[in-house]
Amino acid sequence: MRITLGVTGGVAAYKAAELVRRLQQDGFSVQVVMTRGAREFVTPLTFAALSGQKVITDLFGDSSGGEANLESAIEHIAVAQRTDLLLVAPATADIIAKFARGIADDFLTTLYLASTAPVVVAPAMNVNMWNHAATQENVEMLRARGVRVVDPAEGYLACGMIGAGRLAGQDDIVAAVREVLKTQRDLDGETVLITAGPTCEDLDPVRYITNRSSGKMGYAVAEAAALRGAKVILVSGPVNLEVPAGVERVDVRTAKKMHQAVSERIADSSIAILAAAVADYRPVEQHAEKIKKGNAPLTISLEPTTDILAEVAKNKGQRIVVGFAAETDHVAENARKKLSAKNADLIVANDVTAEGAGFDQDTNIVTLFSRDGRDLALPKMSKSEVAQRILDEIVRLRSVLHGTVASKRSGD
Ligand code: CTP
Repeated sequence: MRITLGVTGGVAAYKAAELVRRLQQDGFSVQVVMTRGAREFVTPLTFAALSGQKVITDLFGDSSGGEANLESAIEHIAVAQRTDLLLVAPATADIIAKFARGIADDFLTTLYLASTAPVVVAPAMNVNMWNHAATQENVEMLRARGVRVVDPAEGYLACGMIGAGRLAGQDDIVAAVREVLKTQRDLDGETVLITAGPTCEDLDPVRYITNRSSGKMGYAVAEAAALRGAKVILVSGPVNLEVPAGVERVDVRTAKKMHQAVSERIADSSIAILAAAVADYRPVEQHAEKIKKGNAPLTISLEPTTDILAEVAKNKGQRIVVGFAAETDHVAENARKKLSAKNADLIVANDVTAEGAGFDQDTNIVTLFSRDGRDLALPKMSKSEVAQRILDEIVRLRSVLHGTVASKRSGD
């Protein structure tokens, strides 16, 4: 999930640097926006280095050369669209007043108006400024509008006074963010191994056999699991996707390498979710040189690859093992067959011919077939929502199969 962190001008601006780290460790990706005031206290470079992303400072980009650039001028709209939550920490009396009154005179204030994402504000200022009727009225106005305000803490303030005005602690700010986004940490202590994407099986140095998997479903599950507190290892075939925050990615190309990467890491995992579209067959022979064109028909012999899901599920012990089934007909029948044939605990089945489901789409329509007999047919939803529902079902299964206590590793 993407958080835009607005940093405004106060002594507490340096604390926002630690907050970036914390949010990333918790599985959020963070885009920092700094106001002019904030840049008096901390340099954008600090935040760029920590977040690994360009820090946004100006509404019109760097216009020192006389020309504002169009890309920057509409960037607030693009950022607004890709933000799941706007967090402002520390928030000065000035930014709170501007938000309350709808003044849009820089990037952050314009973003606030342009975004429909939920907003969390963590004020930090001098105690008298905080207690001033103007500030309190503005804060009330924001609360009434649905903005979540994380009240400042009491204590010694940079100005030498004692009272309310210190930026709330990281734990309180992150808890407010989680509450607003409704992300719970019910996978704390779990290690989740996920496979995603296609595999490529080489015929010669320039040709290979692959499939249309984009990896989006597996990556969505990886992102959601990290947000819910799990340590996530993502064994990924070649895809065009960013590694979700807090996730360790292992890149592989072939079914053989994917099998090897999974085998090396499976022992430490308590949950395995095999979402990759692994090639069922690979060429028997991989030519060292390019195959030359000829007039005779060309036959390529293929041999089966190892079924990684079946291998993992064979000795699973307490581990919860989840597989996917891409079907074009008799979805329920085939999925239930797969569940028992592969000894899995859960099969996520979809009819890839249905509109809004399957390859390279942002939505999916799936049914979850569980080992305890439950079938859960979900309506069309985004792949991130599907990911959450898969994890909900895993958490439910974990308690049905092994009791409510988080199961760590299997006995093997
Ligand atoms: N799988 C795997 N290793 C393979 C093949 C498949 O781990 N070599 C996993 C996939 O990641 C997925 C599930 O098995 O979780 C898909 O099962 P599979 O039997 O390959 O089904 P489909 O390819 O969907 O269909 P079918 O067998 O009907 O061709």
